[in-house]
Amino acid sequence: MSSISTATAGWLALRAPADDAARSAELAQRLGRILRRSPAPIVMHDLGAGTGSMTRWLAPRLPGPQRWVLRDGDAGILQHVDLAPAVDATGAPILSEVVVEDLAELPADAFHGASAVTASALLDVVTGEEAERIVRACLSAGAPALFSLSVTGEVRLRPSDDEVVESAIARAFNDHQRRDADGRRMLGPDAVGVVADLFRDAGWNVRTAATPWRLGRQHSALVGEWLDGWVDAAVEQRPELAPAAEDFRRRGRSQLTAGRLRVDVAHQDLLTWPR
Ligand SMILES: C[S@@+](CC[C@H](N)C(=O)[O-])C[C@H]1O[C@@H](n2cnc3c(N)ncnc32)[C@H](O)[C@@H]1O
Repeated sequence: MSSISTATAGWLALRAPADDAARSAELAQRLGRILRRSPAPIVMHDLGAGTGSMTRWLAPRLPGPQRWVLRDGDAGILQHVDLAPAVDATGAPILSEVVVEDLAELPADAFHGASAVTASALLDVVTGEEAERIVRACLSAGAPALFSLSVTGEVRLRPSDDEVVESAIARAFNDHQRRDADGRRMLGPDAVGVVADLFRDAGWNVRTAATPWRLGRQHSALVGEWLDGWVDAAVEQRPELAPAAEDFRRRGRSQLTAGRLRVDVAHQDLLTWPR
């Protein structure tokens, strides 16, 4: 695939409990109501499926029977798909298949026959052109879509240690997300706005929900990994930040060890469906 792989199975397992707690159950329920009118089985496509965490979370919230198509550009991550615990709303197991596919080549008819499309932690790592392909394929199939957990760029650490450095790191991290890497410019924190506008322009309904990670003492391993990734990306983007950012990281690490660090990382979920 043209993109750098954005996840490892270990990272996805580490973040899964925080992801599951953050996702909008209300938008999922609404999708479930929309799908009550669909012929059985419900056919769902999960884009950037990773190890299948969105499928595991969403399947029990939708009517059965269900068939899922898990699509991802990284054949390696798909080796770790685990759908053993995935059941529909009646408790019945789901049927599934995997497809290795780069979204840069997603055909316009990719979702024909789909009841709905979903994705989680994906929109912020796709390019504008890939987002347009996803939207075009949803419109062509008339398939509602639920895009979960796109980062919006706001982060809050408590206790707040140095707000000036924290804001500078946050700005540099967000610029890093939007940077041009190997000819690809990811949407980063602009993703939900861009995709929402594309669906609204097509006359579709759009609902969004704030779905922040709220991380505390019980997420210390995740917070440690997240803090390192956040600071490293900011320093890569703005190397002159390194001395202040390393001090910030060191103080954050000692708050974490003392069980005092809390981090909120903003995300948004987006549900869209035809009028
Ligand atoms: C952050 S992971 C999220 C995985 C899963 N949806 C979850 O919530 O745990 C993003 C996934 O999207 C896939 N991905 C990213 N960009 C892609 C692209 N352009 N085409 C296909 N897959 C892509 C990556 O391989 C990765 O598995």
